[in-house]
Amino acid sequence: MTMAPAAATDARSQLAPLRRYWHPVEDSAAVGNRPTAVTLLEEDLVLFRSQGRVHALADSRPKACVDPYRAEDRYGLVWVALEDPVADIAPFPEYTDSSYRSYLSVTSSWNASAGRFTENGLDITHFAWVHPGALGDRDDAECPAIDIHVTSYGFEYAYSRESLESPFATGGQTIHSRTMHHLPFTRRRILTSDAGHSVQYVTASPTRARQCKIWMIESRNHHVTDPIEPYIDFSRELLEQDRQIVESQRPEMLPIDLTTELHLRGPDQVALTYRRLLADAGVADV
Ligand SMILES: [Fe+2]
Repeated sequence: MTMAPAAATDARSQLAPLRRYWHPVEDSAAVGNRPTAVTLLEEDLVLFRSQGRVHALADSRPKACVDPYRAEDRYGLVWVALEDPVADIAPFPEYTDSSYRSYLSVTSSWNASAGRFTENGLDITHFAWVHPGALGDRDDAECPAIDIHVTSYGFEYAYSRESLESPFATGGQTIHSRTMHHLPFTRRRILTSDAGHSVQYVTASPTRARQCKIWMIESRNHHVTDPIEPYIDFSRELLEQDRQIVESQRPEMLPIDLTTELHLRGPDQVALTYRRLLADAGVADV
C-alpha cells in the first residue's frame, strides 16, 4: 500500500516511539553480501553483510554518508533498531540449547498493524471461537484463572488448561502455559505438558502503520526426531484462522486510549495490561 507523502509522514511520526526498540526485519538466511530491501516503521532500509557482520542503512539517495543503523543477527532473524534501543532483543534461551529442537515455523506478511497482531496472541478467550477443535472447545469456553504480573521487560502471565488432541499433546492432559511478553511485539510462550516443553517465540515487525511481517519460531525438548511438517502445518493453520479475524479489526491501529473500546474484567486483563504498558512507554496507537 503506497501512501501520499503527507500521510506517510504522519504515519512515521505516529510510529516514532517504536524507533527505540529492536525489531526483526528479515530472515538471516535471506541477507547476504548484496543489498536486501526491507521496510521498518515506514522507512525503506537495505541490509547486507560485510566482514562477518550484518549492516542496515537507510535506502536514501544518494547513498554516500548515511549513518548505519544498529543491526544484529539473532535466532535466525536480522533485527534493527532505528534509535538507541531502550530494551534488549527478547531472549530465547531454548534456541541455542542443544536439548531442544528449534526451527522457523511460520513467517508471513499481514495487512494488520503489529499491535493488532500482537494483542490477538494475548487473548486466550478467542481459542474456543477462532480455533475450535484445535485449541478450544465451544461447548466448554470457560476461561481459566490467569496469573499476571508486570516485569522489567513487559509482563508475564500463566494459566493451565486441558489439552485437546494436537501434534503437541495427547488430549485430556493439563497444559501449563507461561508467556513472557517483551514490549512491544515479541512473546515467548512455554507450554509444559507431560511430554516436556514446547516453546513458541512469536514476533512481529511493524513494517508500516497498518502492515506487519510476523515470525513464529518453535522449540521443543520432546519428540525431537519427529518430522516437523505436521507441527508447522498446525501452527500455520492456526495463524491463518487468526489472520481472518485480525485483518478485519477496526480501528486498524490498536487504540491505546482505553476508553475507545469496551473492556471486561477477567481474561481481558492481559490485553489491558499490554495497552497500559504501551501507553506508559509513550507508544501511541499501534
Ligand atoms: Fe489465535
